Amino acid sequence: MPIEKTLVVIKPDGMKRRLAGLAIDRLENAGFELIGAKVVSVTEKLAHEHYALLKGQPFFPNLIKFIMGDYHDVSNRRVLAMVYRGENAIKGVRAVVGATSPEDAAPGTIRNAFGRINSKAGYYENVVHASGNAMEADREVKIWFKPEELVE
Ligand code: CDP
Ligand code: MG
Repeated sequence: MPIEKTLVVIKPDGMKRRLAGLAIDRLENAGFELIGAKVVSVTEKLAHEHYALLKGQPFFPNLIKFIMGDYHDVSNRRVLAMVYRGENAIKGVRAVVGATSPEDAAPGTIRNAFGRINSKAGYYENVVHASGNAMEADREVKIWFKPEELVE
């Protein structure tokens, strides 16, 4: 099985609700190795780069605001960006994270356990981002981390 790297971001809802440790615990227990981590205040530029492939989706404007922390803590905008490495890490991390909608996420996943749907605003508060495939993982790790920030 290939050794892969993948990006995980504890989103502003997860930071505000103090769920970072629980998410990390699950990823560690699944056997993935943390090789990079930093707290980031997401700029509009970074938000657009990260979600470039979703431009044009109806939820895109909300998504940009959400990842920048506009809905959670504008005075303390924070996400925790991490890179995990391991055998089949991209699919494996996604399996720990669960489906996009907390309503669809399988029992035992992070999004099932901790995610929720903000019914007033109509967006998902799904706690974590994880790269969806090899192309995304490669792209996203490079956007968020310099090579020297990863311990390899
Ligand atoms: O994060 P994931 O790869 O599972 O889903 P995506 O399709 O790449 O969408 C990125 C993010 O957009 C999701 O994690 C949600 O935060 C948000 N989203 C949403 O709020 N409403 C949707 N109908 C679809 C996605
Ligand atoms: Mg995605």
